[in-house]
Amino acid sequence: MIYVTKTFLPPLEEYTARLRGMWDRNQVTNNGPLVQELEARLREQFGVAHALFVSNGTIAIQLALHALGIGGEVITTPFSYVATTSSLLWERCTPVFTDIDPVTLCLDPARIEAAITPRTEAILATHVYGIPCDVEAIAAIAARHKLRVIYDAAHAFGVELGGQSLLRFGDVSTLSFHATKLFHTVEGGAIVTDDDALAHKLTLARSFGHLGDDHFQLGINGKSSEMHAAMGLTVLPHVPALVAGRRHVTELYDARLRGSALERPRIPAGVTYSYAYYPVLLPGEQALLDVRAALHEAGVQPRRYFYPSLNRLPYLQGAPCPVSESAALRALCLPLYPDLADADVHRICDVILAVLAR
Ligand SMILES: Cc1ncc(COP(=O)(O)O)c(C=O)c1O
Repeated sequence: MIYVTKTFLPPLEEYTARLRGMWDRNQVTNNGPLVQELEARLREQFGVAHALFVSNGTIAIQLALHALGIGGEVITTPFSYVATTSSLLWERCTPVFTDIDPVTLCLDPARIEAAITPRTEAILATHVYGIPCDVEAIAAIAARHKLRVIYDAAHAFGVELGGQSLLRFGDVSTLSFHATKLFHTVEGGAIVTDDDALAHKLTLARSFGHLGDDHFQLGINGKSSEMHAAMGLTVLPHVPALVAGRRHVTELYDARLRGSALERPRIPAGVTYSYAYYPVLLPGEQALLDVRAALHEAGVQPRRYFYPSLNRLPYLQGAPCPVSESAALRALCLPLYPDLADADVHRICDVILAVLAR
């Protein structure tokens, strides 16, 4: 079976070599040296002042909302993973969905201002599939209306815009290091910011709100462990090779599928992409279901990512977002991982093209 992704596991000896020191120190969690080393590497890589390693990408968003004191309306994208919206609801915020740009599938800045009310406090936008939002337009709107900007950058590890990390934009960016991601720590995530005061609040909030016996603020347990940090430190040096492998598979898909009825979201100029996903948009939902059935029969498991459009979640009443709803009915992520064989990519494309030709 070929799945939509395959977790990269580094050579076992590289991982266990890092665990040896941990066994010697007998420190397995609570901001140990491996967590500190991973955070230092991430700061360096992103060119930011603070990168806090947390237990997953969902708690990263929730901690960011909490530390920024956001509790009212938040303008957000309907085309993302459910965690973007559920984090808002869990933090008792009100998600206000505005539609996406049909070309990048990210929040469309042209639609944001009409949705701003006196209760609006922030914009939570996703760099979907690692494709950058229009960060300049969003920054201008946020400045005009004094709104905070949080980027759900769960897909954006390794993406650069204008020669700098995409994670540098907005008040704060959150990452997921889940095992399905390009860079992973099995489970994990990070919160990235240049704001010292915010980082201080986040550091406390991540760890119950206290330092020793001194209690400063409300907190939660969002810490991660030395074992997870060890995995991250071991995976990190492999990332350039992983990106190169993904790029090869992406270019092969592109060559085979060019000229077909499939649409692809466009990556704007000035972006160094990470090849995190290979999404395609089918002409309609029936075509998607037909292609998916044929791929299943061929032993291939693509993923409807993202479905449904989040304004349509059964436990909320979101305003209509026709562009996102159409994309959610038609979007399919094809298998993409560095050691996916060329022959398998050809086989997947043969199946898709045969269905589209029917
Ligand atoms: C866009 C987006 N946001 C948030 C998350 C949540 O991350 P995690 O699974 O690490 O909690 C994901 C995970 O897939 C995601 O794709």
